[in-house]
Amino acid sequence: MEKLLSASLMCADLMNLQNGVNELKNAGIDYLHIDIMDGSFVPNITLGFDLINAIKSVTDMPLDIHMMVNEPSKFFDMMNLDENDIICVHYESDIHIHRVLSQIHAKGCKAGLALNPQTPLESMKYLTEYIDMALIMTVSPGFAGQKMFAGAERKVADARKFLDDSGFSHIPIEVDGNISIENGRKLSICGADIFVLGTSSLFIKDKDMTQSAKEVRSALNVQ
Ligand code: DX5
Ligand code: ZN
Repeated sequence: MEKLLSASLMCADLMNLQNGVNELKNAGIDYLHIDIMDGSFVPNITLGFDLINAIKSVTDMPLDIHMMVNEPSKFFDMMNLDENDIICVHYESDIHIHRVLSQIHAKGCKAGLALNPQTPLESMKYLTEYIDMALIMTVSPGFAGQKMFAGAERKVADARKFLDDSGFSHIPIEVDGNISIENGRKLSICGADIFVLGTSSLFIKDKDMTQSAKEVRSALNVQ
């Protein structure tokens, strides 16, 4: 499956975002990863829905929206999205997650299911028909600049095997959190397909982002 790059906008220069989005597109980034947090599901609040709609109005890059919020479906109607965009919700964020995934499809978007580090892969077992992407969190969600958790490689490899063995080899695995060049390379070998790039590899102080993107692409053998 093709390896894709998803730039985490919470790590971008928020005072220069429109230029940043254009630079990311020119650098060949595939998705804009937008972290939405409610201060309750995770102890942080970052980007919001007005920003999502503003970004959507100035670029044709697909959005990879990572909803770290409780009861995410309450907010779906606040986003002007299309069939190229992914809404990724956490398994842990709603007791009726099957219904939430169906609501994403009813909105016409792709549905992603995110699992926190401690959440077993078994949680996906009866939901695979409803997801277009599996997000294996490689840090506890909510903050940039963290370190990948110890079991991340094992969990990604197990997730790939689980999906392949159960007839869902078409579902890509996204990884999010401390995706440095080295961690990205290791996780790619384990079976990761989409890489959320933040402060660990793409948005590095005093370093040209286009240059960083080039280095990530070659390390991950992304064409
Ligand atoms: C974590 C965020 C990510 C990511 C940022 O909740 O969803 O966007 O960690 O990238 P790093 O970890 O490289 O700073
Ligand atoms: Zn994220």
